[in-house]
Amino acid sequence: LDNGLALTPPMGWLTWQRFRCETDCANHPNECINESLIKSMADQMASKGYLEAGYEYIIVDDCWASKERDMHGRLQGDLERFPSGMKALADYVHEKGLKFGIYGDYGNFTCGGYPGSLQYLETDAMTWADWGVDYLKLDGCYVELEGIDQGYGMMTKFLNQTGRPIVFSCSFPAYVGIKANLSAAVEYCNLWRNYGDISDTFEDVKDIADWFGDNQKQLMPFAGPGHWNDPDMLLIGNFGLSLEQSKHQMTIWAILAAPLIMSVDLRAISDESADILQHPKLIRINQDPLGIQGELVKIDNEIHIWQRIIQGNNPDNTCKALAFASYRTDGTIYQYNFKVSEFLKYNGSFVIQNIWRKSEMKKSSDETITARIPPSGVELFIVCPLNE
Ligand code: DGJ
Repeated sequence: LDNGLALTPPMGWLTWQRFRCETDCANHPNECINESLIKSMADQMASKGYLEAGYEYIIVDDCWASKERDMHGRLQGDLERFPSGMKALADYVHEKGLKFGIYGDYGNFTCGGYPGSLQYLETDAMTWADWGVDYLKLDGCYVELEGIDQGYGMMTKFLNQTGRPIVFSCSFPAYVGIKANLSAAVEYCNLWRNYGDISDTFEDVKDIADWFGDNQKQLMPFAGPGHWNDPDMLLIGNFGLSLEQSKHQMTIWAILAAPLIMSVDLRAISDESADILQHPKLIRINQDPLGIQGELVKIDNEIHIWQRIIQGNNPDNTCKALAFASYRTDGTIYQYNFKVSEFLKYNGSFVIQNIWRKSEMKKSSDETITARIPPSGVELFIVCPLNE
């Protein structure tokens, strides 16, 4: 969507994966969707290095709304869980230097059964803009799929009419499937979910990575500054991934130019997980200004090799990120030998950085390099031609 926003993949935090539709604040006061949850996450984002690292949006997913619209037909936050109102919450988030995101649904109801926007697109766009919303995730439950892309386009029009810059995250491609009209997504949306919901398992990381690899020919041409494919949230810091698997997800999401949307209890995250989420070089690859989505190059002995073209130090000096992701089940480090000449056509010397191991070496294009890939882990290199 050509609204000047999301020129690199959006980065932020979203309630859904970790906190779902927990509304029982009496029994689960620290884990329910309410204003204190959002405020405490905003505090963490601003004070623990996330905002500095680039994570700027804090987004409330489903189950924030009251089941009843107000007397003017406007959406309102649940009166018990958001007693100060959504505008006050947005103000709080803005005071922290963050941006505020919210969730709606194009259909009659949200997936969780809260009011949808179908008869209220213009009203809801205006309400959200009044509150100071900077990012809208518009879900696609309870929607007639025929013509859904054009329906989302109506919302784009109403958002534009508010005059407020609002990043627009669309869900229709995930509901329509691989045949979804992604040209419409590029025109109407800043990012869009393509595939099913992630849950907190390594199997899901693999399943999503496989799906993006299998369908990359259809997906890659549509990604670029202002419009991104979205493989869903980062699981890092939760229950399901080991540290190696966390590096694995972070690496593939960087290669895919994926939106980096965390969904984790930032009050309880380990330092190691926080370091993975904030890793400057991973973020640098993800946010590369060229905005070219990476691709799966080959699968060799259950090592999935991905590459992404990224900007070098001068415009002609293009570099590549190379990732070696292991799905082996032999439970030991696997050594994979390669030469840079297999991936980059350039006869000369290269600077090769091993990103997770934080080492750097100089090699000529046909010298052998060994990736040492932990079980279900990953090795990530940046290779750049050395101008001598
Ligand atoms: C389906 C979406 O794909 C999820 O990310 C989440 O927004 C839920 N709906 C909320 O009900």
